[in-house]
Amino acid sequence: LNRVIWGPVMTFSSPRIDLSEDRQFHAIWQSIEEKLAQLMAAPMEAPANLRDAMGHALLAPSKRVRPMMLYLVAEPSRVLASAALDAGGAVELVHTASLILDDLPCMDNAQIRRQRPTTHVAFGEATAILSAIALLSEAFGILAALEGVPAQTRIRLSQILSNAVGWNGLAAGQELDISGTGSPALQNEIEKMNWLKTGVLFEAAAEMGAVLGNRSEAQVAAVRRFAKHFGLAYQALDDVRDSTGSVAELGKDINKDKDKTTYVTQFGIRRAQHECKHHLGLADDALVESGVTAAPLRTLVSQLFRQRAPAA
Ligand code: IPE
Ligand code: IPE
Ligand code: MG
Ligand code: MG
Ligand code: MG
Repeated sequence: LNRVIWGPVMTFSSPRIDLSEDRQFHAIWQSIEEKLAQLMAAPMEAPANLRDAMGHALLAPSKRVRPMMLYLVAEPSRVLASAALDAGGAVELVHTASLILDDLPCMDNAQIRRQRPTTHVAFGEATAILSAIALLSEAFGILAALEGVPAQTRIRLSQILSNAVGWNGLAAGQELDISGTGSPALQNEIEKMNWLKTGVLFEAAAEMGAVLGNRSEAQVAAVRRFAKHFGLAYQALDDVRDSTGSVAELGKDINKDKDKTTYVTQFGIRRAQHECKHHLGLADDALVESGVTAAPLRTLVSQLFRQRAPAA
């Protein structure tokens, strides 16, 4: 796998990635989009402005990597397909809420997200914060109501997601990101931050897929390891793209983390690329151990981490 993804003459660039364009993923991606659109079409008490802000953030062009990963790990039967899409939708709501908050002036102060103005730019800070809270809370309601899934499993899924977003997860990672800004850090400190702010949600998505797919505990553990290393590689790549990409290709601001403590700012692009490669190798080892059908997840990895040869 490494050889396929990491040709020796390749360097990082920032291709526009759209999983809906991949033949293998198109149907799943479309089902995920339909689920999210249905959710936003449901009756709700929210004033139009709040509802519009939620839709602005959620229904914007996105790769939908986390619901895709959940679905590919679950390999759901026809009966469970809808529950797997709902559970993936719950993770996507949490992720979207984290992006709204991450973009606020008090965090990364970003202007563009998912090829649109950030939610606070379009709707104001107060509505942006409220829309994040609304999306976050709704995610747990979705898990509690999953159709055709036993109560014990729904409880476990809720625990997994809650752990990923709370003080052992996203919130902790973002605090480390903000409070560590500009200070020198050791490699393991950066890794811990990346793990908390990005890795845990991938781990949760994959673990939720494994639980829904009734995998053995040993398989669940291997799936978690796969997603953990995937997540660490993903943030390393994201940091590289923050310094080498373009707004047009990424659909979000660049150079937002140039004063932050990241692999790139501390150790340089080559080291960040090396970390990315290292973690992708470990992710693939874990994927093989997990017993999950590897081919689609390998395609997902190669789509997301694909690189172009540098212009001659
Ligand atoms: C952006 O996530 C934030 C990171 C964790 C790097 P994605 O790269 O998955 O963004 P979307 O969901 O496609 O917009
Ligand atoms: C990624 O942090 C983690 C979260 C958004 C929670 P970044 O700040 O690097 O994400 P982008 O680059 O703004 O998407
Ligand atoms: Mg950030
Ligand atoms: Mg950011
Ligand atoms: Mg980034």
